[in-house]
Amino acid sequence: MTLVVSRRRFFAGGLAAAGALGLGGVANARGLSHGMFTHGVASGDPLGEAVIIWTRFVTADAGPGRIGWEVAEDESFATLVASGTVEVRPARDFCVKVDVGGLKPGRHYVYRFISAKGDSVTGLTRTAPDKGVASLSFAQLSCANLAFGYFHAYRDALSRPDLDLCVHLGDYIYEYRRGKYPAAKDAVPERVLEPETEIVSPSDYHRRYARYRDDPDLQELHRTKPWIVIWDDHEFADDAWRDGAENHDPLTQGTWAARRAAAIAAYFDWLPIRHASRDGISIYRRFDWGGLATLIALDTRIVGRSKQPDYDVFKPYTDKDDAALAAAVESFRKREMADPSRTMLGKAQEAWLGGELRRSKAAGVPWQIILQQVLVGSVSSPPEMSKFLPDDASEGSKAFMALRTRLVTQGLPFVVDNWNGYPMARARLLAALQANANNALVLAGDSHNAWANDLPGDGRLAGVEIGCTSVSSPGIEAVLNRAEPGAREAVLTEFNEGLSWCDNANRGYTLVTVTPEAAVANYIATGSVRTRDAALTGETRLVSAASAHGAQAWARA
Ligand SMILES: [Fe+2]
Repeated sequence: MTLVVSRRRFFAGGLAAAGALGLGGVANARGLSHGMFTHGVASGDPLGEAVIIWTRFVTADAGPGRIGWEVAEDESFATLVASGTVEVRPARDFCVKVDVGGLKPGRHYVYRFISAKGDSVTGLTRTAPDKGVASLSFAQLSCANLAFGYFHAYRDALSRPDLDLCVHLGDYIYEYRRGKYPAAKDAVPERVLEPETEIVSPSDYHRRYARYRDDPDLQELHRTKPWIVIWDDHEFADDAWRDGAENHDPLTQGTWAARRAAAIAAYFDWLPIRHASRDGISIYRRFDWGGLATLIALDTRIVGRSKQPDYDVFKPYTDKDDAALAAAVESFRKREMADPSRTMLGKAQEAWLGGELRRSKAAGVPWQIILQQVLVGSVSSPPEMSKFLPDDASEGSKAFMALRTRLVTQGLPFVVDNWNGYPMARARLLAALQANANNALVLAGDSHNAWANDLPGDGRLAGVEIGCTSVSSPGIEAVLNRAEPGAREAVLTEFNEGLSWCDNANRGYTLVTVTPEAAVANYIATGSVRTRDAALTGETRLVSAASAHGAQAWARA
């Protein structure tokens, strides 16, 4: 609906005395429902002329219902630019979304929902600019585990008024039961999970989202900024791939297809994401930002990913010598790592990405920003990292570290759930970025620590990468905790070519600002997530200059 109408005209609905009626009376006359707004409002997926608005309204009788919505240019709502009504359905967990069209590019808007009982809170949002913007500024967020602690990163982002957007790269929720991750001793007592069990069924996923969205910082950041979101594994189950997950047991938890469908439905219900695809599973999509940047959001988890390489095949070599292990590694490398059919994106998404990059480059857009889940840069953990494992570490941790360290010595990556486990797919991605992007900026979450990678290309960089740390989930410092400040980081940057900087100690997020000249990554470190109040503890600023030869290596700014 695109008409500019007055608030009175929308509600009058042909009632001669409408102006004299209270809102409830008018709303009743138009058939709006009684009930309650339970989780504030949210917006997302801003295009030049459209944005998604979201709320959740539980009807008084818990049945189907109808509420109104309004979008205006100022908080008085004196002049509406769009309005309408929308159905509330119990099957959708009472979540409603409207794809508001007919808006103007590059404008700020306010919105709210209306019931017979009154209005929702007022949300703030904006549309993407169509031309001539000097900068784009967004918060890059990932990995918020509610039971591990408070969401200080969301709270800190609220204090940054210049943000255009929030970009969430996944692990927005975690699937585990109470006491699993975190263990009971590490859980913050006030942050009690609902439901108590691991989430598997549709109602489990719905209830988990509802519990997370009770968080006041998360709710307020949704209310005040449009978000662009993509899922990672924990919106489904740990180490998910196309046809399963490490943390999914079909014998006790039902089919992967059923669990995946439940997870996807709840995600679409609760998050302000546009239903973009006919297949109901593809969330890869593009946002143009005023000729300055093309934001390309990918799914490296669900739609196409092949199964992760299985390091369990090396367990029998735990007690064997390095020569025996070397032979096994060689055959593994040929069989798994060199297989070009193993993919992160799947054929269709890979082809789509190439097309989007070419289109953006041809249009002269300076920056191609890739929103995706897991680290592209080939960061690995060298043998020296073992010295940070404390003597009282569990036997399991020691055995894990010992075997992985031997594999790294043989040339395999430490972690294989990220692009490290898919070297042929990564080579194709980097080649596409080098050939078809002007300046490629890759965003990653998932790792729970902060990274700045220069991505190698053929003769020059293919792009640069920002890995943001987690909102609240623990990083490698939780395991490798026998280290002086900066010691882990020194070992990792020395070992990993292309790793320009890292932080393995802090929770937080990254503030990213892009101009035609440069991308600036401001890594924000927040204090302990175990207490409600924690101040900002640090900022580290890195810059990558745009150039005719692509994005330049990260430098401290
Ligand atoms: Fe995570």
